[in-house]
Amino acid sequence: MKIYLAEHRGFCYGVKRAVDMAISSADEGCLVHTLGPIIHNPQMINRLKELGIKTVDQLAEIPEGKVIIRSHGVAPAIYRQAENKHLTIIDATCPHVKKAQQAAHELVTAGYKVVIVGEPHHPEVQSILAWTNQEAAVIETPAEAEKLPNYSRLGIVAQTTFAANKFDAIVAILKSKSEEIRIERTICTATDFRQQAAVNLAKKVDVMIVVGGKNSANTARLASVCQDIGKPAYHIESASELKPDWFINVQAAGITAGASTPDWVIKEVYERMEELTMHDVIHLENGSLIKGTVVGVRHDEVFVDIG
Ligand code: F3S
Repeated sequence: MKIYLAEHRGFCYGVKRAVDMAISSADEGCLVHTLGPIIHNPQMINRLKELGIKTVDQLAEIPEGKVIIRSHGVAPAIYRQAENKHLTIIDATCPHVKKAQQAAHELVTAGYKVVIVGEPHHPEVQSILAWTNQEAAVIETPAEAEKLPNYSRLGIVAQTTFAANKFDAIVAILKSKSEEIRIERTICTATDFRQQAAVNLAKKVDVMIVVGGKNSANTARLASVCQDIGKPAYHIESASELKPDWFINVQAAGITAGASTPDWVIKEVYERMEELTMHDVIHLENGSLIKGTVVGVRHDEVFVDIG
């Protein structure tokens, strides 16, 4: 079996920047906390823990020291509260997310009704919403766009990781809702590139392995774009979840990974897939499987070395 890696996979610019900032902020003489998990990857969270960087959900849980704002960004009120507590703020908000926050803020300040196209409960969308002082509408589907009333001035902002084609479909509907419309297409190309590379690879292989945290939305989307073109795609978090029977009769397998998946996790998956497929998988008539190397065939007998 041949194993291929997607051209664009794993850490995006914003996540790599946030992880690097977190690692370099580790400081033995000072408490360091991240507000929310810095990335959706349990293995990386554990590595940060080993460096003494703890994850908390609320600012109230941080008595002193440094607070790392993750790439999803936070509400303006969080900066004020952190300053009031005299915490050192390490702002790892992805610059693309910052751009979306600022666009939403400027639109609402200029009197536009802001519509954020994204997943309502995603922390990034929540942070963009906060920069509009909770005045924006958040929609995720064309059906929700249809239900919005008409506005004299409409400003549209996208969640950075939103699927480009779905955003365009929603914008097409919103265009009929307002005479004056401003579209801020704040979609990050890292997401597009990963999805396009995953589809390109999925077309060439028999099965796709998609590596990333189970709660990572962009990883789940990579699996779904591969499934949408009819290829089996398995979303796993680590090499230990790989199953040998996914590779039965498979000539070529592809690997892609979400934006929060470290390279070393991808490497472990690659190596495990190599190990698993070093031997042929033989179907027995009773329905069970054995693994081994086919060493010869005579009439209808197959000789297998299972050593
Ligand atoms: Fe930023 Fe794009 Fe990554 S918005 S966090 S570079 S997916």
